[in-house]
Parts: sequence; C-alpha cells; structure tokens
Amino acid sequence: MPNIAVMPGDGIGQEVIPSALRILKAALGADAARWHFEALPHGADHTLKTGQTITASEMQSLRSFDAIVVGALGDPRIPDNRHAKDILLGMRMQLDLYCNFRPSFALSDALVPLKNKGARDVRFTVFRENTEGLYTGIGGNFKMGTADEVAVEQEMNTRKGVERIIREAFAYAVRTGKRRLVMADKANAMTHGHGLWRRVFAEVCKEHQAIEAKALYVDNLVFQLVRDPSQFEVIVTNNLFGDIVTDLAAALQGGLGLAASANYHPGGPQMFEPVHGSAPDIAGKGLANPMGAVLSLSLMLERLGDPTRAAALEAAVKRTIEAGITTKDLGGTATTKEVEEAIARNVF
Ligand code: NAD
Ligand code: IPM
Ligand code: MN
Repeated sequence: MPNIAVMPGDGIGQEVIPSALRILKAALGADAARWHFEALPHGADHTLKTGQTITASEMQSLRSFDAIVVGALGDPRIPDNRHAKDILLGMRMQLDLYCNFRPSFALSDALVPLKNKGARDVRFTVFRENTEGLYTGIGGNFKMGTADEVAVEQEMNTRKGVERIIREAFAYAVRTGKRRLVMADKANAMTHGHGLWRRVFAEVCKEHQAIEAKALYVDNLVFQLVRDPSQFEVIVTNNLFGDIVTDLAAALQGGLGLAASANYHPGGPQMFEPVHGSAPDIAGKGLANPMGAVLSLSLMLERLGDPTRAAALEAAVKRTIEAGITTKDLGGTATTKEVEEAIARNVF
C-alpha cells in the first residue's frame, strides 16, 4: 500500500495539488482505495500561525513515506523566505535528495516558442545537483546595514557530491539509451569549484566511451538551448545553474505550468513537485495550470514502479492540450478545475 505525504504548501500549490491528486485517483481506479495520502500542513499559513516552519522530527518522519508530493513554498508575507528554506531546501538537503530530475519534453508543436522548432526538438532532461553548490547557506553578513557591509555566499562543491550526480546522469543515459550528455559549469571563471566538476566529469566520461559527452560553459549552454534544443539529451549541472536552466527548459516545452520534477536519493526518499513556484500573481483565481503537478505525479508513478499509469497520465495531459482545453498560460481560457476535469476524462 503506497503511503504518500502531501504538502500543497503555498499559493497555487493549494490549487494544483488537490487537482492533480483527483486525477491520480481517477487513474488508479479501484486501486486508489489501497493508497494512503497523509495531508501535511506545512507552508506559510502554518508558519505564521505556529511560529514553526518544520520540526526536526517532522522532517525525519518524512523518510517513512514512499513519496512526498509538494506544491510550492513561497509567500509574500514571509519576505526572507525562511519557511521555504527550512521546508523545501530542508527536505532536499536533510533527506539528501541529491538528484533533481527535471525533464523538458514538449507535448505539442504549438507550445514550442522557438521559430521553426517543434515538439520533436525539445526532449532533454536536466540533472540538477540538489544538496550543495550555492544553496547551503554557508556565508554571512559583516557590518550589516552599514555602508561597509560585506555579504559572502560560499559555493560548496564536494568531490562526493559532484561525482554522485554526474554518475546518476550517466546511469540514466545508459538506462534509457541516450547518446549525448553535457555537463555545464563556469570553470573558466570559477576555477576551484568548477575545476573540480571538470576533473570528476573527465574521469566518469572515461567509463562511458559509448556516450558522446562534453563539458560546456553554462552561458554557452543557455545560448545553445535557445538556438537548437534538439542538440541535447541529458544535461548535468550544479544547484544554481540547474535552477536557472530548468526555468528556461520549462519555457521551451511551453511554460512553467507544464514543468515537472522529481527530487530523489537513489534507493531512498523521494519528493515530487512541479518546477513552478507559488505564483502569488495568480493564486486563488482558478488560473493555475495543474499540468506540471500532474506530470510530477506521472514521474512519481514511474518511480513507484507503475510505468503504465505514468504513461497514461502523460497521455491524458497531451490529449487535453490537443483538445485545446488549457489555462491562460498556454493560451486557453479554461479554469484549473476545467483542465482537471478534462485530464481526468482523458485518463484511460
Ligand atoms: P513562479 O514560478 O511562482 O511564477 C513565475 C510566473 O509563472 C508567474 O507569472 C506565474 O503566474 C507563472 N506560473 C507559474 N506557475 C504557473 C502555473 N502552474 N500556471 C500558470 N502560471 C504559472 O515564480 P516566482 O514568481 O519567481 O516566485 C513566486 C514564489 O514562489 C516565490 O516566493 C518563490 O520563492 C517561490 N518559488 C517556489 C518554488 C518551489 O516551491 N519549488 C519554485 C519557484 C519559486
Ligand atoms: C525551485 C525553486 C527553489 C530553488 C526556490 C524556491 C528556493 O526555484 O525549486 O526551482 O531555487 O531551488
Ligand atoms: Mn526554480
């Protein structure tokens, strides 16, 4: 019996996650009764009400679930974003979910924003290192608030951390028959940390002669992605570059409302969330696109060992797009609820 923790979180997370779960239940049919969903209250409201973001024991208890489903964390009432740091970055770092798997695949030619490019040109996956880099919070402020203020944000790259994400990206390429893999860094400017990435990458490349692997500077990568995304199959990069590149990747597939992700430790805990945030500009208006959340549940089904239903969810989203039932971000006029109902009807 799959045991799933569900944390809709903030803003449109409260809209897209309930929608996506109803679609999941439609896909599960009679089997839905065997699934257990545990609602978790964490998010801005909970933090403002209780003064707590997430306790150490709540964080550890997340390990007992087969999967964690998250909507988004971020709320203008908490401008320093401390709850999202504790909860979202907390899950990634404390549960050691070092793989952030962010596929970009266009489901329709019409959604690809590039001139003379179609869905067949956008079919690549980003492996984002998810536990170190510039995200550890190591650093500090000195003489804060004065004209002499100094702010230091340290980028941490460990041999172990760099090697395991590069290895996971190669393992995925081998497992899924991909031929090309790119590692993106900024080793021309950041010679210490990104020099480490280059050296480790060169070592792991030697073990995979059948894969055409190369290192690119990340500025060139984003240029090449917009020029011709069909060059790419698998991309591996650090935490911050992965964050930025995957919003660009979302735009290539049709928008942030469509982008899905998995955060996992191979053989260990796993968390699934759409790539987008809480979108305060549209929250509570029925305008949120639930497709990224649905496709994240498709990734969850895949990783829970049900590729048939995973494919059924993806196909249902594709049929719904083809039928023109989309929210405003994809050019349509449907509400979140209308898109949900259309996807649920299209699951078979
Ligand atoms: P965002 O992704 O929330 O929104 C960016 C733009 O995309 C907005 O115009 C928004 O309306 C649109 N958009 C996003 N998702 C959409 C959807 N499903 N349907 C339709 N339109 C959608 O990014 P932001 O505005 O930079 O951040 C808002 C808040 O969310 C911030 O607090 C940020 O820190 C947080 N955030 C959280 C996560 C996460 O929890 N994983 C990810 C990104 C941003
Ligand atoms: C994401 C988000 C987060 C990140 C923020 C909310 C800290 O942008 O999941 O893509 O930078 O990882
Ligand atoms: Mn992001």
